[in-house]
Amino acid sequence: MPKILITGACGQIGSEMTLALRERYGKDNVLATDIREPEDENLRASGAFEYLNVLEEQHIARLVQKYKIDTIYHLVGILSAAGEKNPDNAWMVNVNSLKNVLDLAKNLGLRQVFWPSSIAAFGPGSPRENTPQATIMDPNTIYGITKWTGELLCNYYYNKYRLDVRSLRYPGLISYVTPPGGGTTDYAIDIFYQAIKTKQYICFLREDTMLPMMYMDDAIGGTVKLMEAPAHAIRTRLAYNFTAISFTPKQIADEIKKHIPGFVCTYAPDRRQTIADTWPRSVDDSVAQRDWGWKPQYTLSAMVEDMLKHLKKKLKT
Ligand SMILES: NC(=O)c1ccc[n+]([C@@H]2O[C@H](COP(=O)([O-])OP(=O)(O)OC[C@H]3O[C@@H](n4cnc5c(N)ncnc54)[C@H](O)[C@@H]3O)[C@@H](O)[C@H]2O)c1
Repeated sequence: MPKILITGACGQIGSEMTLALRERYGKDNVLATDIREPEDENLRASGAFEYLNVLEEQHIARLVQKYKIDTIYHLVGILSAAGEKNPDNAWMVNVNSLKNVLDLAKNLGLRQVFWPSSIAAFGPGSPRENTPQATIMDPNTIYGITKWTGELLCNYYYNKYRLDVRSLRYPGLISYVTPPGGGTTDYAIDIFYQAIKTKQYICFLREDTMLPMMYMDDAIGGTVKLMEAPAHAIRTRLAYNFTAISFTPKQIADEIKKHIPGFVCTYAPDRRQTIADTWPRSVDDSVAQRDWGWKPQYTLSAMVEDMLKHLKKKLKT
């Protein structure tokens, strides 16, 4: 069994990843950490939690030794829209914390590291349709720049030190447990809350803005599959392209309308539109399919149905 430390465990991904990994590997084998206290009762009740600021490398090292950790899922990150508000902080948190984790993993001889990249690592020079695994990378947001830098660092630590670090270029992730953390694809979560509460939503992207997306269940399943794949199957130590469904705000709104008649979505693009306009509209993940058998489960309609079912329960409507 791996002994896992998760950073950023209270975030949108971390809160569900922690529960999924505890379910799979046992609650005593998964330590949740974050700079803030868990709000989710399930997360708090399901196993150990420690306060950790990932900029403090010595503190990570102490926890690794205390809990005999051999694997880190490094999920701390400042997302795209939040990053543009404070680029210095985005660089410090995203790049310096990854370097801390990689150095510590190398120095303490850890078995594995997972770190998520993003479709934001692509830029205006990358082909926007069916974006290939290997192509021009010229991100022009600070978030994208930190993600591409992170990929290069991971690749370096694998090549130079043989550190088993694995990564995925996550698309926009959709989930109902924890609110999203300030990304350009957050509309695809907010729209569900507003559809249920008020039957109205003002979307901050244009109606025809196609972006790659994925339901959280698929993201977690794919991440675990990547981490459990034999090392010889992992043929890139940059991040793998990783996708499930591409859709526009209008397409998801139309899908929601099938379940909530009378729902009205209007469009008022803001500064996040300029970020979305530099990202892929769809991604070619055939290399992940070939190397370690990646295959998503959720279509747009299946995801919308599941999201509405869970959110209606959560919001008690
Ligand atoms: N959510 C998405 O759609 C998406 C898409 C692509 C990539 N990603 C990447 O996945 C990772 C996790 O994303 P998320 O959506 O869960 O983010 P989030 O903002 O929801 O959560 C990040 C967590 O990190 C914690 N954190 C911030 N600074 C910290 C520090 N210095 N020390 C310790 N903890 C700190 C925050 O408290 C928060 O709980 C990030 O690297 C992000 O770039 C997310």
